[in-house]
Amino acid sequence: MKDILDLMQERHSARVPYDPNRPVTKQQLEQIVEAASWAPTAHNMQNFEIVVVDDPAILQAIGAIKTKISAVFLRENFQQLSFSKEELRRKKTGVIASMFPPSWRTPNVNFDTVAAVAEPVPLSVSLQDSPCLLLVLYDTRKRAPASEGDVLGFISLGCVMENMWLMAQSLGIGLQILSVFSSDPVEREMRRILDFPSYLKVAYGCRLGYPAATHDYVRVRRRSDEFVHWNGHGNKDLG
Ligand SMILES: Cc1cc2nc3c(=O)[nH]c(=O)nc-3n(C[C@H](O)[C@H](O)[C@H](O)COP(=O)(O)O)c2cc1C
Repeated sequence: MKDILDLMQERHSARVPYDPNRPVTKQQLEQIVEAASWAPTAHNMQNFEIVVVDDPAILQAIGAIKTKISAVFLRENFQQLSFSKEELRRKKTGVIASMFPPSWRTPNVNFDTVAAVAEPVPLSVSLQDSPCLLLVLYDTRKRAPASEGDVLGFISLGCVMENMWLMAQSLGIGLQILSVFSSDPVEREMRRILDFPSYLKVAYGCRLGYPAATHDYVRVRRRSDEFVHWNGHGNKDLG
């Protein structure tokens, strides 16, 4: 029991640069996608496809795609920021403000203006020379029965994510999820570069590699007694 919990606790968002000279091997990639194949999915619909990109020329083409930050992201992101490690430890949810550029974390700033004047940024900034990218595609044709808005399908994609992440962690490989790949403009460009059909939508990207640096990263979680209710909401008494 301890081993699996250790692995879950060790799994983390490796936002550091990866060693461009230490590729993730084909065998390791196969282990990671094998882990994906065993993820639970609603009605066993297996509603995903995975594009593995390790060709430097294709990674370079993807890195050249430019993205622009939205005011909605900036506003909602700001609400979740902690401005010190102490604040983050106290709140136990959200992320540390220093992860983001100063203009994204300035109080009382007009985020519509910040977004309007923001320069488009190439994806290479997010990819940070990663030797490998996995693009998880959501197959819109494989909806579980009566899954309103395909919520069950989205939950399933999260299970795929966690299986791959735990496998990568167990292999000592760093992984960072990049949601930016599912934004409409990036998805359009990815579809052009990787040539996938319109019934496949981008769920998320994962950059993978051997971390070339460590980072001072405070990880916080709520304690289970803060979110667990026994035999009825609000009842914190173990009995
Ligand atoms: C659906 C989903 C989308 C995420 N998108 C991003 C992302 O775009 N960039 C990023 O750095 N982390 C992303 N993350 C990682 C979370 O921010 C991270 O898991 C959370 O802050 C907890 O940190 P930990 O992974 O180190 O435990 C995403 C995670 C999930 C589950």
